[in-house]
Amino acid sequence: MKFFLDTANLDEIRKGAEWGIVDGVTTNPSLIAREGKPLKEQIAAICDIVDGPISAEVLATEAKAMIAEGRELAKIHKNIIVKVPLIRDGIQACSALSKEGIRVNVTLCFSPAQALIAAKAGAYFVSPFVGRLDDIGTEGMDLIRQIVAIYDNYDFGTQVLAASLRGPMHVIESALAGAHIGTMPFKAMDMLFNHPLTDKGLEQFLKDYGKAFHTESH
Ligand code: E4P
Repeated sequence: MKFFLDTANLDEIRKGAEWGIVDGVTTNPSLIAREGKPLKEQIAAICDIVDGPISAEVLATEAKAMIAEGRELAKIHKNIIVKVPLIRDGIQACSALSKEGIRVNVTLCFSPAQALIAAKAGAYFVSPFVGRLDDIGTEGMDLIRQIVAIYDNYDFGTQVLAASLRGPMHVIESALAGAHIGTMPFKAMDMLFNHPLTDKGLEQFLKDYGKAFHTESH
């Protein structure tokens, strides 16, 4: 399973990259807006930190304009994945851009039917949003299971990018379901490290060694 950071914050991306467990980054207009720099500038800075797929979302909502914007975004760096929303114009743009060899992430996917459409349009990634489905009282993870099963049935090449993951259980369940990628906020990735027995065990190891050899641990 690949791990992507779902953030446009450069400090968070740098930290995750230092850990060596970040395979890529996803952004959306809300995340870019939070950092206060224009889309292209922020995306270019992210590409300098992580050598992996970096999703940059179009702001246009009409197919022709989306295609033009997608082409421009793709010029920023070879690792750019153009992100388009799962609306009719977005799917049209996905088909056209994919045929030109530009990789597309179809986002805001909330149903298996939508995921089928994205795959048929040649999407490189589809982004089903788990947390936002949970937010409205449905079982978001069912969507990941359904999409993985459907794509397996037909050997679709589109990769399932489990998105809107909010914590460790979402990441674990996505991995169990066979999602190719999980994208998560920095805080969720950080939480994956935690186990009280790791901390307790380490403390004891260092204490034992210190007692035997009168060394101090740092
Ligand atoms: C996906 O690419 C989206 O940016 C993201 O996962 C949405 O997450 P949220 O529902 O926590 O905002």
